[in-house]
Amino acid sequence: MTDYVTVSEDTPMARTGAIKLHGPEGFAGMRAAGRLAAEILDALPPHVVPGATTGEIDDFIRGMMIAGGAVPATLGYRGYTHSCCISINHVVCHGIPGDRVLKDGDIVNIDVTPLLDGWHGDTSRMYLVGDVGLKARRLVDVTYECLMLGIEQARPGNFLGDVSHAIQTHAERHRYGVVRDFCGHGLGQIFHDAPEVVHVGRPRTGPELKPGMFFTIEPMINIGRPDVKLLDDGWTAVTRDRSLSAQFEHSIGITEDGCEIFTQSSKGLHRPPY
Ligand code: MF3
Ligand code: CO
Ligand code: CO
Repeated sequence: MTDYVTVSEDTPMARTGAIKLHGPEGFAGMRAAGRLAAEILDALPPHVVPGATTGEIDDFIRGMMIAGGAVPATLGYRGYTHSCCISINHVVCHGIPGDRVLKDGDIVNIDVTPLLDGWHGDTSRMYLVGDVGLKARRLVDVTYECLMLGIEQARPGNFLGDVSHAIQTHAERHRYGVVRDFCGHGLGQIFHDAPEVVHVGRPRTGPELKPGMFFTIEPMINIGRPDVKLLDDGWTAVTRDRSLSAQFEHSIGITEDGCEIFTQSSKGLHRPPY
């Protein structure tokens, strides 16, 4: 049985396993955090170029968060010491910024989560470095389509399994592998909360979607097999078969008649080319 709790002033903040149903204050908080997150991703294209290091991009992102009155939610999160994740080519997610120099042909996911006035805006997009091959560009396009087809299913009366199923169906139609080991998540005043948002599933299964639910959808799609392995740094997840992987992420809130995308680009920079 799925447990829901309507958020009020005395709702415990803790991760209880119940799905929180937020009111207007929550929507306002997420809108502001999501807007800043989207503005940060909007500002990145001039920085994601051949010769740039991922560490420089991380510094730029931290600067924008602080200038915007936020702090990076990832900084100090379970021992993570950076302000974003940067995942290149066969890296599935949680790539750690550092000395890696971007080179022509790389496909790069940049995932940011500013924590603004207590609310988390979690979003990521793909960036193309210089000239990227057709196979990689097609993966990026289909992954974006997967995210948006999932979001299309996000409305009251539908189930989380409807979101998952739309994503899986589209990816597998292209013979891509959908990553199982990482999923989307509820969020709000907590970074990773219930429910788990898996990206494969059957229609009409899982928790029913209700107004006030906040969660991310963040499909990771591989050209090859879905399997991942974790590198020795304890964070970086890569495809086992070394095939390319792509990901897009939005934070959304279920409304009375559909959903609101908190992390939408106001500049129309939804997917490359930007
Ligand atoms: N932003 C990631 C997500 O989509 C989480 C990153 S946690 C970190 O949930 F510690 F790896 F940064
Ligand atoms: Co997320
Ligand atoms: Co994220």
